[in-house]
Amino acid sequence: MTTNAPIRWGILGTGRIAGIFAEGLRADPEAVLVAVGSRSAESAQRFASKYNVARAHATYADLANDAEVDAIYVATPHPSHMEDTLRCIAAGKAVLCEKPFAVNAAQARTMIDAAKAANVPLMEAMWTRFLPIVRKAVALINEGAIGEVRMIQSDFGFRTDVNPSGRLFDRNLAGGGLLDVGVYCVSLSVMLLGETIAATGIAEIGSTGIDEQGAAVMSFANGRLAYFSTGVRTSTPMETTIMGTEGQIRLESPWFACKRLTLTKGGKSEVIELPFDGNGYHYEAAEVGRLLREKRIESDIMSWSDTMHTMEAMDRIRAVWGLRYPME
Ligand SMILES: NC(=O)c1ccc[n+]([C@@H]2O[C@H](COP(=O)([O-])OP(=O)(O)OC[C@H]3O[C@@H](n4cnc5c(N)ncnc54)[C@H](OP(=O)(O)O)[C@@H]3O)[C@@H](O)[C@H]2O)c1
Repeated sequence: MTTNAPIRWGILGTGRIAGIFAEGLRADPEAVLVAVGSRSAESAQRFASKYNVARAHATYADLANDAEVDAIYVATPHPSHMEDTLRCIAAGKAVLCEKPFAVNAAQARTMIDAAKAANVPLMEAMWTRFLPIVRKAVALINEGAIGEVRMIQSDFGFRTDVNPSGRLFDRNLAGGGLLDVGVYCVSLSVMLLGETIAATGIAEIGSTGIDEQGAAVMSFANGRLAYFSTGVRTSTPMETTIMGTEGQIRLESPWFACKRLTLTKGGKSEVIELPFDGNGYHYEAAEVGRLLREKRIESDIMSWSDTMHTMEAMDRIRAVWGLRYPME
């Protein structure tokens, strides 16, 4: 990679989000999608044809070892994230790994330690953090627009049919609401409030052994709280309200793909709108590009400590819910 050349991306996995990311990457003029890796030659070829990708690799190892790739986006089911990420790191590639970063905090620690040891960039693909309106909300909070943040309410749940063999309902693929979408609520709370001190809550564990719906309250330093609901069998409003001592910021639905916020303060409300380019997935890719160009390995916006605090919080919540996966 030369300093000004586009970042050459590879995508590991050919599922739903892999395609969305491939489309998203088109909005980044400093990125080019050059390779895809799959567990099968047919699937790699199908993906490559659809998204106009030059090289289709029939194994993940071939993609990791592709010398003409700078960064790899890991888009496999949650329990594969650690192995796939470690494989790419070992081959010297920068890695953008889908959320949840791993199944649990112990796996996440192993991945981060490997990136540090190999001196390669590694970042959790929490794309929401990089959206212009979310950056604006963070800037407003840092400027003191709502005083000290005291409490956060958020939710992310959707209703889908029970499919025992599908990724969302399969315990062996670490299915369930928390790891799939509740993670957005936890990550946002950690971004604004830091490390959790404790968590409590309750979940409905369905017939396939995963959390079909659940709610949790997390506590942070100085008595600050965040509470959220999540699920794969119940649609929720998909809103977030950040409550401070001087006002509130509401991220409008669907908050994880937000374009508008409302700042309420002193009895007055102001609406701020910031659309995003493309489908919004190129911002996180651009951050990995920046890390590579600036020869850094950790993002300030999606830091390793925030990833660890998010994974630790979800471990705590699952312990209270009584949800453990077979691979743990
Ligand atoms: N950021 C977001 O907005 C967002 C949205 C959806 C999902 N995600 C995350 O992205 C990851 C993938 O989700 P997805 O919805 O894209 O899943 P998906 O449609 O099921 O695709 C997963 C892909 O991973 C590969 N894979 C490797 N091992 C597998 C296994 N044991 N079973 C099934 N597939 C396996 C397959 O690709 P090959 O056959 O080519 O190897 C498959 O196409 C998850 O961790 C999820 O949380 C993020």
